Amino acid sequence: MTIVNRQSNPLLTGANGRTSVCDMSKYDLNNLIQSHAVVSLPTCPSVFLLLVEVLENPDNAGNKLNEVLSSDQAFCSQVLRLANSAAFGCERQVASIEDAVLRIGYQNIWTMAVAIKTKEILEPSSGGWMDVNDQMWWHAFKTAIFARFIGKQINPSMASVFFTSGLLHDLGKWIMLKIVPNYLTICDNGRVFGPPLIAMEQANLGTNHANIGGDMINYWRLPELIEKLVRGHHDYAPGTFGVMDAQYVVPMADEMAHFLGDATQDFGADAEVIFPRTMLERSLMSTRAVEMMLAEFQRLRDALNKSRNPG
Ligand SMILES: [Fe+2]
Ligand SMILES: [Fe+2]
Repeated sequence: MTIVNRQSNPLLTGANGRTSVCDMSKYDLNNLIQSHAVVSLPTCPSVFLLLVEVLENPDNAGNKLNEVLSSDQAFCSQVLRLANSAAFGCERQVASIEDAVLRIGYQNIWTMAVAIKTKEILEPSSGGWMDVNDQMWWHAFKTAIFARFIGKQINPSMASVFFTSGLLHDLGKWIMLKIVPNYLTICDNGRVFGPPLIAMEQANLGTNHANIGGDMINYWRLPELIEKLVRGHHDYAPGTFGVMDAQYVVPMADEMAHFLGDATQDFGADAEVIFPRTMLERSLMSTRAVEMMLAEFQRLRDALNKSRNPG
């Protein structure tokens, strides 16, 4: 797997030195950044970039992860609290990241660390965490878990890229919520999604959340592949594709996550009862794999909830 990073790229690129998606729109992210507009765009903490970089060197991932997490004590304790939750069934409490990596695996620790940081990135700077934020967060997390499972059959070495892209796929919506006063009305409080939402955003705002999210990821200098998967996640009409290629992984995961609706409920264990047969066929996953995917989501969701509300 080659993840192209942007170490040598200018902040934004394009004919005028900036990527241009919708120059005429007052909601164009690049214009907002350029004009230092008084809006609170989410910032990407350096530890998040380091976590994504860990992906680039899978051979030394455990050590590198330990190094990254140990540089931030508060973050480190949060990850350990999660690792010690009942969801991972450790008989003895883990006391260090090294210990946690040994006992519950590098993948689990990395997943939880990235999820915690993503949530922090998305946290509204004012106005508190609303119900809509909660729904959007669990939708993002569900899509990430699903994307990793679905993507593994296309390219196992890209599983973590699919996970990160799933987490960030609707980043543009979080930004729209911050900068567009009537965004919730435009998307009918989240009841409209998929291509109709993109069309509504485009008509009302001159841009859409897939492009805004892609621009933000570009600005943060996350790998181009993540930007590409986020920017393209609504380029396909739901129900019209099977997962033949990496480009379909996030759209398929998004579709399945939307189909399940509320992430706080338990879905049961029978994939064939939960999902329509055509959807299962298009995911190219066995029934058993889909059931493992649902169980994984519910387990990690409960662990994350526990770490937020210990006891
Ligand atoms: Fe979306
Ligand atoms: Fe979505």
